[in-house]
Amino acid sequence: MKIPCYICGLGSYVPSHSVTNGDMEKLVQTSDEWIVSRTGIRERHFLAEGEQVSDAGAAAARAALEDARLSPDAVTHVFVATCTPEYLSPSTACVIAGKLGLPSSSGRGAAVMCLDFNAACTGFVYGLELARSVLQGSPEAVVLLIAAEALSRRMNFADRSTCVLFGDAAGAVALRSCPEGGLWEVRDVTCASDGSLCELIKIGGGTARSVAEGDVLGPDFFISMQGQAVFRHAVRSMTEESQHILERNGLGVDDVELFIPHQANLRIIQAVGERLGLEPAKVFVNLANYGNTSAATLPLAMCDARKEGVLRPGMKVLLTSFGGGMTWGSVLLT
Ligand code: UT7
Repeated sequence: MKIPCYICGLGSYVPSHSVTNGDMEKLVQTSDEWIVSRTGIRERHFLAEGEQVSDAGAAAARAALEDARLSPDAVTHVFVATCTPEYLSPSTACVIAGKLGLPSSSGRGAAVMCLDFNAACTGFVYGLELARSVLQGSPEAVVLLIAAEALSRRMNFADRSTCVLFGDAAGAVALRSCPEGGLWEVRDVTCASDGSLCELIKIGGGTARSVAEGDVLGPDFFISMQGQAVFRHAVRSMTEESQHILERNGLGVDDVELFIPHQANLRIIQAVGERLGLEPAKVFVNLANYGNTSAATLPLAMCDARKEGVLRPGMKVLLTSFGGGMTWGSVLLT
């Protein structure tokens, strides 16, 4: 029997420290005109010194649980999509669970499964598929899916082609199988990848290189990207994956009430919207205020769209994303 999966709460967190294009002009040789015309980004937000990706993730998680009217004690699984984890170990999921007070004093929290996974900017899509699988096996589960990123901590401020693009943020959803309190059903998810393209976007700091105390950090420690190749792949993969999920659910593009794509570049978003034949009013865009926050863009966009009143419970919503790996995928919410 197919067990349904409902999003029953939604939350986000954006650090207060805003960095405008004007601020970026003081750091690298760039201009507000170049950044806006090539990307659509006007400002991004960076974690404050001492503020961690787990703080952002915990704040988004608390907001999602409050929205779902659930106590942290009810959570059975904490999944964190991130390509900028706080440590190689422990997992950011364990750190966040600790900040949420799990395990709880009742001891129930000791049964919580905590897991980080990395599908780069596609993390939220992959996470919804993970949540669906968990609920299929354990219908009583309460899954907290958090997408949290601290990209500012791996930005190369000597590389103007990447450092202007990214920002920090977190988004979270609470998922259950029971329809009461459900905002949307996660009707279908597709996840794809092509590891032969793994060189196109990289973030260093892993075990690929041995380091000794006192070593000077090289460019391989930071984000590097082949922008134009990624751009082409992004447009093709998000368009095809969106068509694929609609087709396999017997839907046409006119059935989509709101399209929320990964917020990386306004030109990519517009190209995908045009290729799909979507009217621009159905395409949600909020990247001007945040830049590309990787896995966090989709839940953050969902929160903003809901606040603006354009995303309402039960609407037919198409989400799509792409990212390092390469990875990509789509989600159909109803
Ligand atoms: O979540 C996945 C993350 N990745 C992406 O979504 C990235 C996808 N790619 C892109 O969004 C675009 O390729 C970029 C925004 C990264 C770059 O835009 P582009 O239109 O592909 O520019 P380009 O790389 O072809 O560079 C054009 C020019 C170059 O100068 P020359 O060689 O023509 O003289 C660059 O050096 O723009 C220059 N440039 C800049 N100029 C001012 C590159 N970065 C900047 C900058 N400010 N920040």
